[in-house]
Amino acid sequence: MAPQGSNVSSSRSKLFLCLLLLACTGAAGLQVGFYQQSCPDAESIVRNVTWAGAAADPSLAGKLLRVYFHDCFPQGCDASVLLDGRGTEKAAGPNLSLGGLDVVDAAKAALEVACPGTVSCADVVALAARDAVSFQFGRLLWEVETGRRDSCFSDEADATSLPNPEFVFPILKDSFAKRGLGVADLVALSGAHTLGRTTCMFVSPRLYTFRGNGGVDPLIDPGYARELMQQCQSTSSTNRVVMDPGSEFSFDTSYYAAVKANRGVLLTDSVLMHDDEAARLVDEMQDQGKFLAAFEASIRRMGAIGVLTGSAGEIRRNCRVVN
Ligand code: HEM
Ligand SMILES: *[C@@H]1O[C@H](CO)[C@@H](O)[C@H](O)[C@H]1NC(C)=O
Ligand SMILES: *[C@@H]1O[C@H](CO)[C@@H](O)[C@H](O)[C@H]1NC(C)=O
Repeated sequence: MAPQGSNVSSSRSKLFLCLLLLACTGAAGLQVGFYQQSCPDAESIVRNVTWAGAAADPSLAGKLLRVYFHDCFPQGCDASVLLDGRGTEKAAGPNLSLGGLDVVDAAKAALEVACPGTVSCADVVALAARDAVSFQFGRLLWEVETGRRDSCFSDEADATSLPNPEFVFPILKDSFAKRGLGVADLVALSGAHTLGRTTCMFVSPRLYTFRGNGGVDPLIDPGYARELMQQCQSTSSTNRVVMDPGSEFSFDTSYYAAVKANRGVLLTDSVLMHDDEAARLVDEMQDQGKFLAAFEASIRRMGAIGVLTGSAGEIRRNCRVVN
């Protein structure tokens, strides 16, 4: 067994090499079909693994879409969220209940058999999120640009830069603007909350201690607030509530109908009605065709945030650890 010291210094020099490559290369663009020559089956391998997972677990679409968001927002879409260990993004508070990572691992393992060292974990996340959401439609909903590379580090502090569910509109807008995303992107991407659940921890403050004065958030429809109170009985409840009641698993426009009817579960959902432009877009997104087109455009922009390309970063062999 190698002494501890040499392990540490070897991982330090790897980190240094990786940082050096990062510093010395410029970012080229992403492209659709990046692996066409180097790994022609890459996209169908990921799709097959993901669709098998989605068939077994209807909540996979929400899980993987959220993983993609949590990867991209903190330090760019670079698979930093997948790294295990103390002090990483994954170990930070906002990671709460990230799921679907076993499917990412399974897709990556299949890729390593077909084309070792070729397809990045960051691209696996981007593809698997698209595939999981698309499963219920039986066709792929949007094209994914690929060519991302994986970061060599992850920092817990970065995960705290994810938008907080208690942000008011201007702060939320600003958090998107910092990543080059506008109000149209904010409204379209918030539509992801047509899938999945939230822990009561993010809902109860709106029900019992709003603005610290013990009241109910006036932005929530009173009847709906009473329904939520039955599911989240106290501020310490760890129950999980459906964000889009009635269609938790379908990628549809009912989230926008809920937001318009003051039935947004998170404050950040409700406040979309607090801005004229956002409220107008919430109306527009009631149309499924317009929603899908807007989501496609916005998730492409999200997928390009802070990417590493060319020879920056690395292609991780195991998504959970730096090579
Ligand atoms: C606008 C700022 C956003 C805030 C403040 C926010 C916050 C949250 C919170 C607090 C939860 C509940 C987490 C839990 O308790 O497990 C959640 C769930 C979720 N978020 Fe967001 N989110 C935002 C934007 C997005 C975006 C851009 C996406 C993807 C494109 C996304 C996808 C999801 C999905 C799919 C879930 C459900 C996950 C599941 O049930 O497995 N969110 N979000
Ligand atoms: C994916 O699944 C389809 C349908 O079952 C099959 O025809 C195809 O060969 C699979 N692709 C790969 C790369 O495994
Ligand atoms: C998320 O972070 C917590 C600590 O805040 C940790 O206990 C948990 O295992 C992490 N979840 C995942 C999926 O890594």
